[in-house]
Amino acid sequence: MKLEFKGLHPYFFAEASPIALSTVHEPETLAAIRAAMDAHAVIVFHGQAFTDAEQLAFARRLDGALHAKTGARVVAKNRLGEDEALTDISNVGEDGALLATDDRQRLYRLGNRLWHTDASFEDPPGRYSMLHARVVPPSEVGGDTEFADMRAAYDALGPETKAKLEGLRVRHSIAYSRRTLGFDFSAEEEKLLPGAEHPLVRRLPGGRRSLYLASHAAEVIGWNLPEGRLLLRELIEHATQPRFVHRHTWRAGDLVIWDNRATMHRATPFDDAHVRRELRRVTTLDIAA
Ligand code: OGA
Ligand code: MN
Repeated sequence: MKLEFKGLHPYFFAEASPIALSTVHEPETLAAIRAAMDAHAVIVFHGQAFTDAEQLAFARRLDGALHAKTGARVVAKNRLGEDEALTDISNVGEDGALLATDDRQRLYRLGNRLWHTDASFEDPPGRYSMLHARVVPPSEVGGDTEFADMRAAYDALGPETKAKLEGLRVRHSIAYSRRTLGFDFSAEEEKLLPGAEHPLVRRLPGGRRSLYLASHAAEVIGWNLPEGRLLLRELIEHATQPRFVHRHTWRAGDLVIWDNRATMHRATPFDDAHVRRELRRVTTLDIAA
């Protein structure tokens, strides 16, 4: 049966027809998924029964090398094992119990509630992120994820703004973004997370452009700090207007793949002191294919 994609938002975000990704090896199907990613930027595949190993293997088949330089590895040992390419997106600690509200890991993870794109504080940053829902709260409890289309946001800018942004570069730092919430890395931790520089406007496969922004965006190179930060804030406000945003309510088994070059995302609040939410993320490296 042919794989089909149905758009769920006027600009981006599609739902794939039924398919078991752990069994997908044919180059044609993988190429069709990549082409659909270029068109839709975010795709949900329902009903995936991945083990950790299957999720990692599928990510490699789809897009090559995996990103293992998370900020989380610096804060605590990965409860999922040695492979830092498998990121624990949960409210659960090493003992399997829900994290206490003042647990440092929880405070670190709250940073996902700020609009961001994955691993922009590294070079290379993340390309595709693949987030698999293992245990999710009932939909009325919350815990949705919001996505914003940074291509549509770029397209909607006026010509003068587009001209002003051309060629600008931005320094991204997770120490900066976590500090805006009051979470402080120690000096040793910060040494492992020095940050990275990237263009503010990216050219995507197929020729469209996008605003490459994130909570991690800390300064515009060559501008004074306040003016640079005001520009970044103004652009993030612009890009996250409701018309550019789609909200995803998770079902267990969903795999959502997003293109970090073309979108931002953020977690939304829920009663995480009492309700379990466990997802696992694998992100690929944004290097030439
Ligand atoms: C992520 C992320 C948001 C969420 O996995 O990279 O930001 O809703 N997740 O858990
Ligand atoms: Mn993220």
